[in-house]
Amino acid sequence: MDMQTDAKAEDRYADLLEKNRRHLWNPFTQMKDYLEHEPVIIERGEGRRLIDVRGRAYWDGVSSLWLNVHGHRVPEIDDAIRGQLDLIAHATLLGQANVPAVLLAERLAGIAPPGLTKVFFSDSGAEAVEIALKMAFQYWQNRGVAGKEKFVTMQEGYHGDTIGAVSVGAIELFHARYAPLLFPSYKVPYPNAYRNPYLDHPADPASGALAALEALLRERAGEIAAVIVEPVQGAGGMVPAPSGFLRGLRELCRRYGVLLIVDEVATGFGRTGRMFACEHEGVSPDILTVGKGITGGYLPVAATLATDEVYDAFYGEFEEYKALYHGHSYTGNPLGCAAALANLDLMERTRLVEEVAAKSQVLAGWLGELAHHPHVGDVRQAGFMVGVELVADKASKAPFPPGDRYGWKVCWRCRDLGMLLRPLGDVVVFMPPLASTLDELAEMVRILKQALCDVLPA
Ligand SMILES: Cc1ncc(COP(=O)(O)O)c(C=O)c1O
Repeated sequence: MDMQTDAKAEDRYADLLEKNRRHLWNPFTQMKDYLEHEPVIIERGEGRRLIDVRGRAYWDGVSSLWLNVHGHRVPEIDDAIRGQLDLIAHATLLGQANVPAVLLAERLAGIAPPGLTKVFFSDSGAEAVEIALKMAFQYWQNRGVAGKEKFVTMQEGYHGDTIGAVSVGAIELFHARYAPLLFPSYKVPYPNAYRNPYLDHPADPASGALAALEALLRERAGEIAAVIVEPVQGAGGMVPAPSGFLRGLRELCRRYGVLLIVDEVATGFGRTGRMFACEHEGVSPDILTVGKGITGGYLPVAATLATDEVYDAFYGEFEEYKALYHGHSYTGNPLGCAAALANLDLMERTRLVEEVAAKSQVLAGWLGELAHHPHVGDVRQAGFMVGVELVADKASKAPFPPGDRYGWKVCWRCRDLGMLLRPLGDVVVFMPPLASTLDELAEMVRILKQALCDVLPA
Protein backbone atom coordinates (compact mmCIF):
# COMPACT_ATOMS: atom_id res chain seq x y z
CA MET A 1 0.00 0.00 0.00
CA ASP A 2 1.28 3.47 -0.83
CA MET A 3 1.09 6.27 1.73
CA GLN A 4 -2.12 7.72 0.31
CA THR A 5 -4.06 4.41 0.46
CA ASP A 6 -2.52 3.84 3.86
CA ALA A 7 -3.91 7.14 5.16
CA LYS A 8 -7.30 6.39 3.58
CA ALA A 9 -7.42 2.98 5.26
CA GLU A 10 -6.51 4.58 8.61
CA ASP A 11 -9.31 7.14 8.20
CA ARG A 12 -11.78 4.41 7.36
CA TYR A 13 -10.68 2.41 10.39
CA ALA A 14 -11.05 5.43 12.66
CA ASP A 15 -14.52 6.10 11.27
CA LEU A 16 -15.69 2.48 11.76
CA LEU A 17 -14.17 2.32 15.21
CA GLU A 18 -16.07 5.45 16.23
CA LYS A 19 -19.31 3.93 14.90
CA ASN A 20 -18.53 0.69 16.75
CA ARG A 21 -17.98 2.73 19.91
CA ARG A 22 -21.27 4.55 19.50
CA HIS A 23 -23.56 1.76 18.35
CA LEU A 24 -22.19 -1.79 18.31
CA TRP A 25 -22.33 -3.88 21.49
CA ASN A 26 -20.11 -6.93 20.93
CA PRO A 27 -20.96 -10.34 22.46
CA PHE A 28 -19.00 -11.77 25.41
CA THR A 29 -16.99 -8.54 25.38
CA GLN A 30 -16.16 -5.97 28.04
CA MET A 31 -16.65 -2.98 25.77
CA LYS A 32 -14.27 -0.68 27.68
CA ASP A 33 -11.48 -3.20 27.41
CA TYR A 34 -12.27 -3.86 23.75
CA LEU A 35 -12.36 -0.22 22.71
CA GLU A 36 -9.14 0.56 24.56
CA HIS A 37 -7.21 -2.16 22.77
CA GLU A 38 -7.42 -1.07 19.14
CA PRO A 39 -10.02 -3.59 17.93
CA VAL A 40 -9.54 -5.51 14.72
CA ILE A 41 -12.29 -4.77 12.18
CA ILE A 42 -12.41 -7.49 9.54
CA GLU A 43 -13.25 -6.64 5.96
CA ARG A 44 -12.61 -9.83 4.03
CA GLY A 45 -11.24 -13.34 4.12
CA GLU A 46 -8.87 -15.32 1.93
CA GLY A 47 -8.36 -19.02 2.56
CA ARG A 48 -7.39 -19.49 6.17
CA ARG A 49 -6.74 -15.78 6.71
CA LEU A 50 -8.79 -12.78 7.75
CA ILE A 51 -7.94 -9.33 6.45
CA ASP A 52 -8.86 -6.17 8.33
CA VAL A 53 -9.91 -2.78 7.00
CA ARG A 54 -6.32 -1.58 7.24
CA GLY A 55 -5.16 -4.44 5.00
CA ARG A 56 -3.50 -6.49 7.74
CA ALA A 57 -3.79 -10.27 7.36
CA TYR A 58 -4.18 -12.68 10.28
CA TRP A 59 -4.41 -16.46 10.49
CA ASP A 60 -7.92 -17.40 11.61
CA GLY A 61 -6.53 -19.39 14.56
CA VAL A 62 -9.90 -20.13 16.17
CA SER A 63 -11.84 -20.71 12.93
CA SER A 64 -13.94 -17.58 13.59
CA LEU A 65 -15.14 -19.03 16.91
CA TRP A 66 -14.72 -22.73 16.16
CA LEU A 67 -16.72 -23.01 12.98
CA ASN A 68 -14.72 -22.45 9.83
CA VAL A 69 -13.96 -25.63 7.87
CA HIS A 70 -12.36 -25.03 4.45
CA GLY A 71 -11.35 -21.41 4.89
CA HIS A 72 -12.94 -18.20 3.62
CA ARG A 73 -14.13 -17.39 0.08
CA VAL A 74 -14.40 -21.06 -0.87
CA PRO A 75 -15.54 -21.06 -4.52
CA GLU A 76 -17.72 -24.18 -4.16
CA ILE A 77 -19.67 -22.78 -1.19
CA ASP A 78 -19.82 -19.24 -2.62
CA ASP A 79 -21.28 -20.65 -5.87
CA ALA A 80 -23.83 -22.82 -4.03
CA ILE A 81 -25.13 -19.79 -2.13
CA ARG A 82 -25.26 -17.67 -5.29
CA GLY A 83 -27.08 -20.48 -7.12
CA GLN A 84 -29.65 -20.75 -4.34
CA LEU A 85 -30.04 -16.98 -4.30
CA ASP A 86 -31.19 -17.16 -7.92
CA LEU A 87 -34.00 -19.49 -6.79
CA ILE A 88 -35.11 -18.22 -3.38
CA ALA A 89 -33.42 -16.83 -0.26
CA HIS A 90 -35.97 -17.98 2.28
CA ALA A 91 -39.28 -19.81 2.67
CA THR A 92 -40.63 -21.07 5.99
CA LEU A 93 -40.40 -24.66 7.14
CA LEU A 94 -43.50 -24.39 9.32
CA GLY A 95 -46.06 -26.65 7.69
CA GLN A 96 -44.16 -26.78 4.36
CA ALA A 97 -40.69 -27.62 3.11
CA ASN A 98 -37.99 -26.29 0.81
CA VAL A 99 -35.61 -28.18 -1.46
CA PRO A 100 -32.23 -27.67 0.28
CA ALA A 101 -33.72 -28.35 3.75
CA VAL A 102 -35.12 -31.72 2.63
CA LEU A 103 -31.86 -32.68 0.93
CA LEU A 104 -29.75 -31.59 3.90
CA ALA A 105 -31.94 -33.53 6.36
CA GLU A 106 -31.41 -36.68 4.27
CA ARG A 107 -27.69 -35.99 4.05
CA LEU A 108 -27.28 -35.45 7.80
CA ALA A 109 -29.21 -38.61 8.63
CA GLY A 110 -26.83 -40.43 6.26
CA ILE A 111 -23.65 -39.30 8.02
CA ALA A 112 -24.86 -39.14 11.63
CA PRO A 113 -24.20 -41.97 14.11
CA PRO A 114 -26.58 -44.88 13.40
CA GLY A 115 -30.22 -44.46 14.41
CA LEU A 116 -30.38 -40.66 14.21
CA THR A 117 -32.81 -40.43 11.32
CA LYS A 118 -34.85 -37.28 12.02
CA VAL A 119 -33.55 -33.73 11.69
CA PHE A 120 -35.05 -30.60 13.28
CA PHE A 121 -33.39 -27.39 12.05
CA SER A 122 -32.64 -24.14 13.87
CA ASP A 123 -30.19 -21.24 13.58
CA SER A 124 -27.63 -21.61 16.37
CA GLY A 125 -26.09 -24.17 18.66
CA ALA A 126 -27.95 -22.79 21.68
CA GLU A 127 -31.27 -23.20 19.86
CA ALA A 128 -30.35 -26.76 18.86
CA VAL A 129 -29.83 -27.42 22.57
CA GLU A 130 -33.12 -25.72 23.58
CA ILE A 131 -34.88 -27.97 21.10
CA ALA A 132 -33.11 -31.08 22.43
CA LEU A 133 -34.23 -30.20 25.97
CA LYS A 134 -37.85 -29.59 24.97
CA MET A 135 -37.82 -32.76 22.86
CA ALA A 136 -36.54 -34.89 25.76
CA PHE A 137 -38.94 -33.27 28.23
CA GLN A 138 -41.99 -33.72 25.99
CA TYR A 139 -40.92 -37.22 24.88
CA TRP A 140 -41.73 -38.57 28.34
CA GLN A 141 -44.98 -36.57 28.57
CA ASN A 142 -46.13 -37.83 25.17
CA ARG A 143 -45.37 -41.38 26.23
CA GLY A 144 -47.47 -40.90 29.36
CA VAL A 145 -44.52 -41.25 31.75
CA ALA A 146 -44.99 -38.72 34.52
CA GLY A 147 -42.33 -36.96 36.56
CA LYS A 148 -39.31 -37.18 34.25
CA GLU A 149 -38.69 -33.45 34.01
CA LYS A 150 -35.10 -32.82 35.11
CA PHE A 151 -31.75 -32.80 33.33
CA VAL A 152 -28.28 -33.92 34.30
CA THR A 153 -25.32 -31.92 33.05
CA MET A 154 -21.57 -31.97 33.67
CA GLN A 155 -19.56 -29.56 35.84
CA GLU A 156 -17.95 -26.93 33.55
CA GLY A 157 -20.39 -27.90 30.79
CA TYR A 158 -21.38 -25.29 28.21
CA HIS A 159 -24.29 -25.54 25.80
CA GLY A 160 -24.98 -21.97 24.67
CA ASP A 161 -26.34 -18.73 26.05
CA THR A 162 -30.12 -18.92 25.88
CA ILE A 163 -31.88 -19.50 29.19
CA GLY A 164 -32.56 -23.22 28.70
CA ALA A 165 -29.02 -23.83 27.49
CA VAL A 166 -27.64 -21.82 30.42
CA SER A 167 -29.80 -23.91 32.79
CA VAL A 168 -27.77 -26.96 31.72
CA GLY A 169 -24.52 -24.97 31.78
CA ALA A 170 -22.10 -25.15 34.68
CA ILE A 171 -19.38 -22.54 34.21
CA GLU A 172 -19.38 -20.30 37.26
CA LEU A 173 -18.32 -17.12 35.46
CA PHE A 174 -20.83 -17.38 32.62
CA HIS A 175 -23.79 -18.96 34.40
CA ALA A 176 -23.91 -18.27 38.15
CA ARG A 177 -25.19 -14.69 37.88
CA TYR A 178 -28.28 -15.84 35.95
CA ALA A 179 -29.21 -18.47 38.55
CA PRO A 180 -32.57 -16.92 39.52
CA LEU A 181 -33.71 -17.17 35.90
CA LEU A 182 -32.80 -20.83 35.42
CA PHE A 183 -34.49 -24.17 35.96
CA PRO A 184 -32.45 -26.41 38.27
CA SER A 185 -30.46 -29.30 36.83
CA TYR A 186 -28.26 -31.94 38.42
CA LYS A 187 -24.54 -31.46 37.95
CA VAL A 188 -22.09 -34.36 37.95
CA PRO A 189 -18.30 -34.33 37.48
CA TYR A 190 -16.83 -34.35 33.96
CA PRO A 191 -13.78 -36.59 33.64
CA ASN A 192 -11.16 -33.85 33.45
CA ALA A 193 -7.82 -35.58 33.90
CA TYR A 194 -5.79 -32.43 34.67
CA ARG A 195 -7.89 -30.55 37.17
CA ASN A 196 -10.89 -32.04 38.93
CA PRO A 197 -12.07 -30.64 42.24
CA TYR A 198 -15.30 -32.66 41.94
CA LEU A 199 -13.82 -36.17 42.01
CA ASP A 200 -12.60 -38.11 45.03
CA HIS A 201 -10.13 -40.17 42.99
CA PRO A 202 -8.97 -38.01 40.08
CA ALA A 203 -6.46 -40.68 38.95
CA ASP A 204 -9.21 -42.52 37.04
CA PRO A 205 -11.54 -39.66 36.10
CA ALA A 206 -13.73 -41.64 33.70
CA SER A 207 -14.64 -44.30 36.28
CA GLY A 208 -15.05 -41.67 38.98
CA ALA A 209 -17.37 -39.54 36.84
CA LEU A 210 -19.41 -42.56 35.75
CA ALA A 211 -19.74 -43.74 39.35
CA ALA A 212 -20.98 -40.29 40.42
CA LEU A 213 -23.54 -40.30 37.62
CA GLU A 214 -24.67 -43.82 38.43
CA ALA A 215 -25.18 -42.92 42.09
CA LEU A 216 -27.46 -40.08 41.00
CA LEU A 217 -29.37 -42.18 38.47
CA ARG A 218 -29.86 -45.01 40.94
CA GLU A 219 -31.63 -42.60 43.24
CA ARG A 220 -33.34 -40.20 40.85
CA ALA A 221 -33.75 -41.69 37.37
CA GLY A 222 -37.52 -41.51 37.85
CA GLU A 223 -37.37 -37.72 37.77
CA ILE A 224 -34.69 -37.35 35.04
CA ALA A 225 -35.57 -36.81 31.37
CA ALA A 226 -32.05 -36.78 29.93
CA VAL A 227 -28.31 -36.41 30.47
CA ILE A 228 -26.54 -33.84 28.28
CA VAL A 229 -22.81 -34.01 27.56
CA GLU A 230 -20.06 -32.60 25.32
CA PRO A 231 -17.65 -35.30 24.04
CA VAL A 232 -14.91 -32.68 24.42
CA GLN A 233 -15.70 -29.83 26.80
CA GLY A 234 -15.12 -26.70 24.75
CA ALA A 235 -15.83 -23.53 26.73
CA GLY A 236 -15.02 -25.50 29.91
CA GLY A 237 -11.36 -25.39 28.81
CA MET A 238 -10.86 -27.73 25.82
CA VAL A 239 -11.06 -30.97 27.79
CA PRO A 240 -11.45 -34.24 25.87
CA ALA A 241 -13.24 -36.97 27.82
CA PRO A 242 -11.00 -40.03 28.28
CA SER A 243 -11.82 -43.00 26.08
CA GLY A 244 -14.56 -45.20 27.49
CA PHE A 245 -16.45 -42.33 29.14
CA LEU A 246 -19.02 -41.71 26.43
CA ARG A 247 -19.58 -45.44 26.01
CA GLY A 248 -20.07 -45.81 29.75
CA LEU A 249 -22.51 -42.91 29.72
CA ARG A 250 -24.47 -44.52 26.90
CA GLU A 251 -24.77 -47.74 28.88
CA LEU A 252 -25.85 -45.99 32.08
CA CYS A 253 -28.53 -43.94 30.31
CA ARG A 254 -29.93 -47.07 28.70
CA ARG A 255 -29.83 -49.05 31.93
CA TYR A 256 -31.60 -46.35 33.97
CA GLY A 257 -34.10 -45.29 31.29
CA VAL A 258 -33.00 -41.71 30.62
CA LEU A 259 -32.29 -40.14 27.25
CA LEU A 260 -28.73 -39.26 26.21
CA ILE A 261 -28.22 -35.92 24.48
CA VAL A 262 -24.75 -35.49 22.97
CA ASP A 263 -23.90 -31.87 22.14
CA GLU A 264 -21.59 -31.89 19.11
CA VAL A 265 -22.05 -28.21 18.26
CA ALA A 266 -18.29 -27.72 18.72
CA THR A 267 -17.00 -31.21 17.91
CA GLY A 268 -19.16 -32.12 14.89
CA PHE A 269 -18.16 -32.06 11.22
CA GLY A 270 -14.63 -33.35 11.43
CA ARG A 271 -13.22 -31.19 14.23
CA THR A 272 -11.87 -34.16 16.24
CA GLY A 273 -10.72 -36.25 13.27
CA ARG A 274 -14.02 -38.12 12.85
CA MET A 275 -17.20 -36.72 11.32
CA PHE A 276 -18.72 -36.77 14.82
CA ALA A 277 -16.81 -37.26 18.07
CA CYS A 278 -19.33 -39.97 19.08
CA GLU A 279 -17.75 -42.18 16.41
CA HIS A 280 -14.50 -42.49 18.42
CA GLU A 281 -16.53 -44.52 20.91
CA GLY A 282 -19.07 -46.10 18.56
CA VAL A 283 -21.83 -44.32 20.47
CA SER A 284 -25.23 -43.25 19.15
CA PRO A 285 -27.12 -40.86 21.41
CA ASP A 286 -30.91 -40.52 21.44
CA ILE A 287 -30.57 -36.86 20.51
CA LEU A 288 -27.61 -35.10 18.86
CA THR A 289 -27.11 -31.34 18.58
CA VAL A 290 -24.95 -29.86 15.80
CA GLY A 291 -24.18 -26.39 14.45
CA LYS A 292 -21.03 -24.34 13.86
CA GLY A 293 -19.14 -26.27 11.14
CA ILE A 294 -22.30 -27.54 9.43
CA THR A 295 -22.22 -24.77 6.79
CA GLY A 296 -18.42 -24.69 6.64
CA GLY A 297 -18.65 -21.63 8.90
CA TYR A 298 -20.69 -19.61 6.42
CA LEU A 299 -24.27 -19.20 7.62
CA PRO A 300 -26.29 -19.73 10.81
CA VAL A 301 -27.69 -23.25 10.56
CA ALA A 302 -27.94 -25.75 13.42
CA ALA A 303 -29.83 -29.00 13.86
CA THR A 304 -31.15 -31.38 16.49
CA LEU A 305 -31.15 -34.99 15.33
CA ALA A 306 -33.32 -37.65 16.96
CA THR A 307 -34.00 -41.36 16.70
CA ASP A 308 -37.23 -42.82 15.31
CA GLU A 309 -38.13 -43.76 18.86
CA VAL A 310 -38.05 -40.13 19.98
CA TYR A 311 -39.78 -38.91 16.80
CA ASP A 312 -42.51 -41.55 17.04
CA ALA A 313 -43.53 -40.31 20.50
CA PHE A 314 -44.55 -37.02 18.84
CA TYR A 315 -46.35 -38.66 15.90
CA GLY A 316 -50.13 -38.90 16.20
CA GLU A 317 -53.50 -37.43 15.35
CA PHE A 318 -53.70 -33.64 15.22
CA GLU A 319 -56.09 -33.49 18.16
CA GLU A 320 -53.74 -35.47 20.39
CA TYR A 321 -51.59 -32.28 20.52
CA LYS A 322 -48.34 -34.20 20.61
CA ALA A 323 -46.49 -31.98 18.11
CA LEU A 324 -43.22 -30.35 19.12
CA TYR A 325 -44.25 -26.75 19.75
CA HIS A 326 -41.07 -25.09 18.61
CA GLY A 327 -39.81 -23.22 15.54
CA HIS A 328 -37.92 -20.11 14.44
CA SER A 329 -38.57 -17.70 11.59
CA TYR A 330 -35.46 -18.75 9.67
CA THR A 331 -35.53 -22.47 10.50
CA GLY A 332 -34.27 -24.48 7.52
CA ASN A 333 -33.14 -21.38 5.64
CA PRO A 334 -32.47 -22.42 2.02
CA LEU A 335 -29.28 -20.35 1.63
CA GLY A 336 -27.82 -21.89 4.78
CA CYS A 337 -28.89 -25.41 3.81
CA ALA A 338 -27.38 -24.95 0.31
CA ALA A 339 -24.12 -23.83 1.93
CA ALA A 340 -24.20 -26.90 4.21
CA LEU A 341 -24.74 -29.26 1.27
CA ALA A 342 -21.81 -27.69 -0.60
CA ASN A 343 -19.69 -27.91 2.56
CA LEU A 344 -20.45 -31.62 2.98
CA ASP A 345 -19.76 -32.29 -0.74
CA LEU A 346 -16.40 -30.59 -0.45
CA MET A 347 -15.55 -32.39 2.79
CA GLU A 348 -16.23 -35.68 1.03
CA ARG A 349 -14.34 -34.76 -2.14
CA THR A 350 -11.23 -33.63 -0.26
CA ARG A 351 -11.44 -36.50 2.25
CA LEU A 352 -11.19 -33.76 4.81
CA VAL A 353 -12.00 -35.78 7.92
CA GLU A 354 -9.25 -38.32 7.17
CA GLU A 355 -6.89 -35.42 6.45
CA VAL A 356 -7.68 -33.83 9.82
CA ALA A 357 -7.01 -37.15 11.57
CA ALA A 358 -3.61 -37.48 9.84
CA LYS A 359 -2.55 -33.84 10.32
CA SER A 360 -3.60 -34.01 13.99
CA GLN A 361 -0.80 -36.50 14.58
CA VAL A 362 1.77 -34.07 13.16
CA LEU A 363 0.20 -31.22 15.13
CA ALA A 364 0.44 -33.31 18.32
CA GLY A 365 4.21 -33.57 17.83
CA TRP A 366 4.60 -29.80 17.50
CA LEU A 367 2.28 -29.07 20.40
CA GLY A 368 4.19 -31.50 22.60
CA GLU A 369 7.10 -29.03 22.48
CA LEU A 370 4.92 -26.34 24.05
CA ALA A 371 4.46 -28.51 27.12
CA HIS A 372 8.16 -28.01 28.00
CA HIS A 373 7.55 -24.35 28.78
CA PRO A 374 7.72 -23.82 32.57
CA HIS A 375 4.34 -22.03 32.60
CA VAL A 376 2.45 -24.43 30.34
CA GLY A 377 0.65 -26.78 32.73
CA ASP A 378 -1.23 -28.89 30.20
CA VAL A 379 -1.63 -29.18 26.44
CA ARG A 380 -4.92 -30.86 25.49
CA GLN A 381 -5.84 -31.88 21.98
CA ALA A 382 -8.68 -33.64 20.18
CA GLY A 383 -7.96 -33.35 16.47
CA PHE A 384 -7.96 -29.64 15.58
CA MET A 385 -9.35 -28.67 18.97
CA VAL A 386 -6.50 -27.55 21.22
CA GLY A 387 -6.21 -25.94 24.66
CA VAL A 388 -2.94 -24.80 26.21
CA GLU A 389 -3.40 -24.22 29.94
CA LEU A 390 -1.09 -21.62 31.48
CA VAL A 391 -0.15 -21.93 35.15
CA ALA A 392 1.92 -19.97 37.66
CA ASP A 393 3.46 -23.16 39.00
CA LYS A 394 3.69 -26.36 37.05
CA ALA A 395 4.22 -28.74 39.97
CA SER A 396 1.26 -27.54 42.06
CA LYS A 397 -0.84 -26.52 38.99
CA ALA A 398 -1.42 -23.21 40.79
CA PRO A 399 -3.09 -20.76 38.41
CA PHE A 400 -1.89 -17.22 37.77
CA PRO A 401 -3.91 -14.52 39.58
CA PRO A 402 -6.84 -13.88 37.16
CA GLY A 403 -5.96 -10.16 37.03
CA ASP A 404 -2.65 -11.01 35.34
CA ARG A 405 -4.65 -12.04 32.25
CA TYR A 406 -1.92 -14.16 30.73
CA GLY A 407 -4.38 -15.91 28.42
CA TRP A 408 -5.39 -12.57 26.96
CA LYS A 409 -1.82 -11.32 26.80
CA VAL A 410 -0.69 -14.35 24.81
CA CYS A 411 -3.58 -13.82 22.37
CA TRP A 412 -2.82 -10.11 22.05
CA ARG A 413 0.79 -10.97 21.25
CA CYS A 414 -0.39 -13.51 18.66
CA ARG A 415 -2.41 -10.75 17.04
CA ASP A 416 0.71 -8.57 16.73
CA LEU A 417 2.45 -11.57 15.16
CA GLY A 418 -0.38 -12.17 12.67
CA MET A 419 -2.85 -14.67 14.17
CA LEU A 420 -6.23 -14.12 15.85
CA LEU A 421 -6.97 -16.27 18.91
CA ARG A 422 -9.45 -15.98 21.75
CA PRO A 423 -8.66 -17.53 25.15
CA LEU A 424 -10.84 -19.09 27.81
CA GLY A 425 -9.31 -17.55 30.94
CA ASP A 426 -5.76 -18.91 31.05
CA VAL A 427 -6.48 -21.63 28.50
CA VAL A 428 -5.21 -20.48 25.12
CA VAL A 429 -7.51 -21.99 22.51
CA PHE A 430 -6.17 -23.03 19.12
CA MET A 431 -8.80 -24.26 16.65
CA PRO A 432 -7.48 -23.78 13.10
CA PRO A 433 -9.73 -24.19 10.05
CA LEU A 434 -9.91 -27.90 9.20
CA ALA A 435 -8.48 -27.49 5.70
CA SER A 436 -5.33 -25.71 6.94
CA THR A 437 -2.26 -27.16 5.24
CA LEU A 438 0.67 -28.47 7.25
CA ASP A 439 2.70 -25.40 6.23
CA GLU A 440 -0.06 -23.12 7.46
CA LEU A 441 -0.38 -25.07 10.71
CA ALA A 442 3.38 -24.91 11.22
CA GLU A 443 3.32 -21.13 10.84
CA MET A 444 0.37 -20.80 13.26
CA VAL A 445 2.10 -22.98 15.87
CA ARG A 446 5.32 -20.99 15.42
CA ILE A 447 3.43 -17.78 16.22
CA LEU A 448 1.78 -19.38 19.25
CA LYS A 449 5.12 -20.61 20.53
CA GLN A 450 6.74 -17.20 20.08
CA ALA A 451 3.83 -15.45 21.82
CA LEU A 452 4.11 -17.80 24.81
CA CYS A 453 7.84 -17.11 25.10
CA ASP A 454 7.41 -13.34 24.66
CA VAL A 455 4.63 -12.94 27.20
CA LEU A 456 5.02 -15.49 29.98
CA PRO A 457 7.44 -14.80 32.85
CA ALA A 458 10.92 -16.24 32.23
C1 LIG B 1 -20.85 -27.51 22.92
C2 LIG B 1 -21.55 -26.26 22.53
N1 LIG B 1 -22.90 -26.22 22.51
C3 LIG B 1 -23.58 -25.13 22.16
C4 LIG B 1 -22.92 -23.98 21.77
C5 LIG B 1 -23.70 -22.76 21.40
O1 LIG B 1 -23.65 -22.54 20.03
P1 LIG B 1 -24.04 -21.12 19.42
O2 LIG B 1 -22.97 -20.17 19.83
O3 LIG B 1 -24.09 -21.36 17.95
O4 LIG B 1 -25.37 -20.76 20.01
C6 LIG B 1 -21.52 -23.96 21.75
C7 LIG B 1 -20.80 -22.76 21.35
O5 LIG B 1 -19.62 -22.61 21.55
C8 LIG B 1 -20.83 -25.13 22.15
O6 LIG B 1 -19.49 -25.16 22.18
